[in-house]
Amino acid sequence: MTRTPLYGDSLWINVRLATLDPQHAAPYGALEAHALLVRDGRIAAIVPQAGIDLAAFAGEVIDGAGRWLTPGLIDCHTHLVYGGNRAAEWEKRLTGVPYQQIAAEGGGIVSTVRATRALDEEALADLSLPRLKALMREGVTTVEIKSGYGLTLEDELKQLGAARRLAAGLPVEVAPTLLAAHAVPPEFAGDADGYIEHVVNVILPAAARQGLAEAVDVFCEGVGFSPAQARRVFDAARQHGLKVKGHVEQLSNLHGAALVAEYHGLSADHIEYLDDAGVDALKAAGTVAVLLPGAYYFLRETQQPPVARLRAAGVPMAVSTDLNPGTSPFASLRLALNQACVLFGLTPEEALAGATRHAAQALGRGATHGRLAEGCVADLLLWDIEHPAEIVYGLGTNPLQLRVFRGVIQHE
Ligand code: NIG
Ligand code: FE
Repeated sequence: MTRTPLYGDSLWINVRLATLDPQHAAPYGALEAHALLVRDGRIAAIVPQAGIDLAAFAGEVIDGAGRWLTPGLIDCHTHLVYGGNRAAEWEKRLTGVPYQQIAAEGGGIVSTVRATRALDEEALADLSLPRLKALMREGVTTVEIKSGYGLTLEDELKQLGAARRLAAGLPVEVAPTLLAAHAVPPEFAGDADGYIEHVVNVILPAAARQGLAEAVDVFCEGVGFSPAQARRVFDAARQHGLKVKGHVEQLSNLHGAALVAEYHGLSADHIEYLDDAGVDALKAAGTVAVLLPGAYYFLRETQQPPVARLRAAGVPMAVSTDLNPGTSPFASLRLALNQACVLFGLTPEEALAGATRHAAQALGRGATHGRLAEGCVADLLLWDIEHPAEIVYGLGTNPLQLRVFRGVIQHE
């Protein structure tokens, strides 16, 4: 038999690969009897194990003992940097007061804004650290973090600065998003257009200049901003070279998804009230549909996102935690995946693709993240499971055995 000469830093053998790569037709993109080679933090090759001359390999050999290896999980929509909490508001909501009413009465997002403004960047990062670590413990290796609880130039940049500070100290990649258009701050009460002008002329350019955000998001909703206001923000994003995303069709249908698609946005998120024309627009633009079942569950929403239509149209579906204090206080991506299956009817395979390959696409990282494939980052997870569906199936125990970031095994 011919032997394949290999050189690299580490070689994973006796692993079952759930590549999540559509070039492999088996469920989960599964590949058996293959080894995975890591070099310089990237996946250098995936080769049949039988052809390898192990004795000639100079790097570290890691024996997976027949366990499953997947790409690192990607949480593509979070608001995990914030101050305070909203447990008291939740108690109120449980008695029947709607989320919109709480927002209209000066609670909701604006109450988290008060708590977030009261902290400096370091304190904000410290407070947010346990939330990020909880995600990481379940296998998250890339996470998006939004601003949106500052709503002044200084406080929005502070929130993004806290996200950057968190990333600098941990083996995780952070994709920062500016969500200054999340709510109208008290300083601009009754003048949403005035605030949007401030976002467009002051906050967004500063975030772009300082390299603190790679994308811009808008809460396009009755309790948020109108499509016309979102358009202003997206135009400015485009001008400053930032990507576009949207909180759209969460509580009503303002046709925000079609607007995001018009700007060739990365993703349209929530989308419980998305209609057929919105689905078609996402498909045509290659925009990812991000499902956020945690918020659906926590708000006791009853309108389900049009999963069957998205599936039939071939729109990539991602799944994320939406981790935030108001509508989804859950620092568990595995919980969101489970909810996506039970509440929205995704298959476990779709859910896992939604937290890997499609989540990568929703962050503009489809070419390098979210799959086990040559050239992708070596963010790897080794799971003590018999079948990949177990990653999504049970909660409360954690079957993750090894977490690898850029080729390096992480020990907590
Ligand atoms: O994704 N919808 C708007 N933004 C968040 C909620 C933020 C909050 O209530 O604090 C969401 O659900
Ligand atoms: Fe959100």
